[in-house]
Amino acid sequence: MDDIVIEDLTKSYASGWPGRPPFVALDGLYLTVGRGEIFGFLGPNGAGKTTTLKILLGLVRATGGRALLLGQPAGDVETRRRIGFLPESPYFYDYLTAEEFLGFYGQLAGLGHVAIAQRVTDLLSLVGLADARDRQLRKFSKGMLQRIGLAQALIHDPELVILDEPMTGLDPVGRKQVRDLILSLRDRGKTIFFSTHILHDVEMICDRVGIVIKGRLLASGRVDELVRQDHTQSVEIVCQHIKAEGNAFIHSLATRVLQQGQQCLIVLPSPDAVDAMVGEIRRQGGGLLSVTPHKASLEDLFFQEAAPEASRVQADSLTGRAF
Ligand SMILES: Nc1ncnc2c1ncn2[C@@H]1O[C@H](COP(=O)(O)OP(=O)(O)OP(=O)(O)O)[C@@H](O)[C@H]1O
Ligand SMILES: [Mg+2]
Repeated sequence: MDDIVIEDLTKSYASGWPGRPPFVALDGLYLTVGRGEIFGFLGPNGAGKTTTLKILLGLVRATGGRALLLGQPAGDVETRRRIGFLPESPYFYDYLTAEEFLGFYGQLAGLGHVAIAQRVTDLLSLVGLADARDRQLRKFSKGMLQRIGLAQALIHDPELVILDEPMTGLDPVGRKQVRDLILSLRDRGKTIFFSTHILHDVEMICDRVGIVIKGRLLASGRVDELVRQDHTQSVEIVCQHIKAEGNAFIHSLATRVLQQGQQCLIVLPSPDAVDAMVGEIRRQGGGLLSVTPHKASLEDLFFQEAAPEASRVQADSLTGRAF
């Protein structure tokens, strides 16, 4: 059974200017997220990720199409109790301590005092904030706020967890902690749907991924399937004691040839030509130093799929190269 089903979802925002057409944020989005899956919803700034998540939570009304969560229409109040949500910009009550803040959300979720006390302790240690239990949120760093937001989303032990950019604002250690947390939730049978623009995080943990650009799904599937699709693996060969310059055979097979002194780097577009190239190197009496296949990454796929659509700036923001 799918925990999330999105069919032909559209959302237009009024332009706010007389005579100007509405802005189309979602343009016929289709998506399914299976039970127990970690699904990464990947797209550049303005792609429509937050809009989609808000529609799923019933915070924004779709213009058309339909969205089902746990078999019920998005926004259903009863179903909402079974869903945890981390918003993109959560609002924090500055003067509450971490414990009070989580306790407050525990009460909202209808938990009793004993359950809240236990849950708060468990969650604070789960998100690495056990030491900050009595600290006011106004004294929290950005990364700490992100973590307490995550704990808040999990207070009522939801079946389906929806997170809008959960790794944003976190340092590499914090990002790893959130990834591990998401994996441990999956191990406990939860379904996790999270948006991000950081490809690496998706590649590390997602069972499936959907790439959204301008409100449309460009591609979806398992990460390994997506990167395999139509994706030739290039192969780098490093050898020595050959003369590549002027060798028509080598240049006809290679996409790049770089001679540096005795050594030569040859890049082949696919593994098919490796045998022929190695034969040529041997024929010349050269020595083989290494043969390295290069696995296509989600980043390659993203650029291939999105390049005509997304601007260079957007694409750069996706690589998460800031770290
Ligand atoms: N309330 C609104 N009124 C008008 N336009 C809106 C509104 N909310 C979002 N938009 C527009 O819809 C588009 C999608 O926005 P959305 O916030 O869903 O993108 P996103 O994928 O979450 O981006 P980001 O990675 O920056 O968070 C954007 O162009 C945005 O300007
Ligand atoms: Mg967003």
